[in-house]
Amino acid sequence: MPYTLHRGDALTALAGIPDNSVDAVITDPPYNSGGRTSGERTGRSARAKYTSGDAEHDLANFPGENRDQRSYGFWLTLLLTESYRATVESGAALVFTDWRQLPTTTDALQAAGWTWRGIASWHKPVSRPQKGRLKQSCEYIVWGTKGPVDPDRSPVYLPGLYTASQPRKDRVHITQKPVEVMRELVRICPPGGTVLDPFTGSGTTGVAALREGRGFVGVELSEHYADIAEKRLRGALAQDDFALAGPEE
Ligand SMILES: C[S@@+](CC[C@H](N)C(=O)[O-])C[C@H]1O[C@@H](n2cnc3c(N)ncnc32)[C@H](O)[C@@H]1O
Repeated sequence: MPYTLHRGDALTALAGIPDNSVDAVITDPPYNSGGRTSGERTGRSARAKYTSGDAEHDLANFPGENRDQRSYGFWLTLLLTESYRATVESGAALVFTDWRQLPTTTDALQAAGWTWRGIASWHKPVSRPQKGRLKQSCEYIVWGTKGPVDPDRSPVYLPGLYTASQPRKDRVHITQKPVEVMRELVRICPPGGTVLDPFTGSGTTGVAALREGRGFVGVELSEHYADIAEKRLRGALAQDDFALAGPEE
């Protein structure tokens, strides 16, 4: 099978992933954001932070959202350090974040050894306008490489701006990313290479990787979301099998 899903804590699972064994790290960690005060950040669940009162869905909470600002920076650095070790030379790291955690994420990426290469934006057209404020309509993808960029490994020209709504119909995770955005991003990994996502959630990065002909290694702490990811990954493989085999005569 071109994917492996580890159930458990990302730092623990990463320690078992061999050096230089993946081609790109593409991940969407818990942002530990979503509040103006330390109390709001550390005392509220992911559901309370990222689901508005009028949201129609009733999606399960997820863990890992209660670190204060300093410990979030240390923890993300550890995660990105282990990910760096597991990645081949010239491999890429793409890490999602929001406006509040953008400075911490760029610091953590560099402290972990990656060469910071830039920031791409994911623009969400249906985000809510806020009276007297600028609309928060983007999340960000901080990216870097392990050593020099090797343009011949991944000869792609990827955009720096992605516009797509968060999945509404068939949404299974509170902070689910659009597959169409992830399908573009996984192209930073060479065809046939392996994408690592230590915070798999519902498996969107993995689904995108499999659909684009890349392998996938994921880690997810929540049993609930690991079950969903497993189902979605199997589904993506089945579709690929169908596409390879072609329709029956
Ligand atoms: C922002 S969500 C990822 C959502 C994903 N991109 C998707 O489209 O479904 C982060 C995920 O990390 C998981 N998580 C939190 N702490 C973790 C840890 N220490 N190890 C592994 N996974 C963890 C959460 O359960 C959550 O599902």
